[in-house]
Amino acid sequence: MSPAPTEKNFDKGLANTIAAESKMSFIDGVNGVLEYVGIHIDHLARNSTFEESTFLLWEGRLPTETELEELNAALRAEYSLPPGIIDLIRTFPVDSPPMHALQTAIAALALHDSDADVNDPEANRRKAIRLVAKTPAVVAAFDRFRSGKEIIEPRPEMDIASNFLWMLNGEEPTETMAKALDVCLILHADHGTNASTFTSLVIISTLSDMYSSIAGAIGALRGPLHGGANEGVMRMLEEIGDLSKVDEVIERKMANKEKIMGFGHRVYKAYDPRATYLKTFAKGLAEDTGNMELYQMSNRIEEIMNEKVAAKGIFPNVDFYSATTYWSLGLKLDLFTPMFAIARMSGWTGHCMEQLADNKLIRPGSSYTGPHEIPYVPMSDR
Ligand code: SDX
Repeated sequence: MSPAPTEKNFDKGLANTIAAESKMSFIDGVNGVLEYVGIHIDHLARNSTFEESTFLLWEGRLPTETELEELNAALRAEYSLPPGIIDLIRTFPVDSPPMHALQTAIAALALHDSDADVNDPEANRRKAIRLVAKTPAVVAAFDRFRSGKEIIEPRPEMDIASNFLWMLNGEEPTETMAKALDVCLILHADHGTNASTFTSLVIISTLSDMYSSIAGAIGALRGPLHGGANEGVMRMLEEIGDLSKVDEVIERKMANKEKIMGFGHRVYKAYDPRATYLKTFAKGLAEDTGNMELYQMSNRIEEIMNEKVAAKGIFPNVDFYSATTYWSLGLKLDLFTPMFAIARMSGWTGHCMEQLADNKLIRPGSSYTGPHEIPYVPMSDR
């Protein structure tokens, strides 16, 4: 038995606490390094696919060609949504925030899965495949419905990135667009025990089910301090308006002690390696799609922040350039965080399976700061 925690162990925000062991992501916050099972994120972004990286995260190694074909076939067989989920999506108010719609539909998927409450490794891998395969369809179906458009059936001959863009836009994506999205999915797939992944661990550690765990993770990801930051970056760029106003707006925000969305990180005190790659990507896409001023505004914000706060270890994080990338891909602003959820489904489900392989209920102590020995006062005397 570990010794009972005392007040001196209190670590606000768990900023200095190691709460899990994992073989999935290695993050070196000082040197700005991210590896999935030992492979540098930059090498995966340049050479891998989201599906291959998902296999890597789940199985702890790269797949053989046959294994990758088998995973692709298993995912594509699960692209479609149960009719009941489509019917449910059609009941959502059209102005629902997409992350609420996603969280609701993902939780409801449990009602259509006979494996939902089966917690053995095989059942959980089947659920992981269904969640990674169906999340894009939920996001696309809600966006089509709220836009008054026909919901589009998935195309199992396409990979996840291409199929998502097909279901969203009703047209086959260009190779460049599909590749750009696939790279974004790889970059966002996993990242240690970030807030949403930790949420999923807490829930699955009670031996609850994977759908409940993922629904909780989606709730955590939504927050602007976490996955909601990419939407916050885009809203900030829209608020600034054009390149000539960047300095004035950022100076004002800094003077007001406002957090600049897309900057800073609990672990990285160096440039987020995912932002490094995304920055080059965002520039190329911005040039191709006539969004160069957006990229230049982002670049200017980075220059200002570099002067003011780099010394404090505050650099761009993954969300900063993913905003320009998603905007250039033609994604609506409030679909940016759902994009993050589509990618992170791979990491969340992987961590759930890893936790269950060597589970212990996650239940930290708390330091009581309230009073003692207070008498109960009857209502008549209050
Ligand atoms: C993601 O954890 C993960 O791995 C997350 C993620 C993943 O892949 O899952 O990487 C994805 O969530 C990236 C982060 C996206 N969030 C944002 O971009 C929101 C803006 N960032 C900040 O809110 C902040 O940087 C956090 C929340 C990300 C991290 O904050 P911490 O570790 O709790 O540190 P803090 O808020 O206490 O800040 C320390 C200091 C403070 O200054 P002082 O009070 O000490 O003078 O740094 C300052 C902060 O004011 N600071 C910022 C800042 N971030 C921190 N100042 C201005 N702008 C910022 N963005």
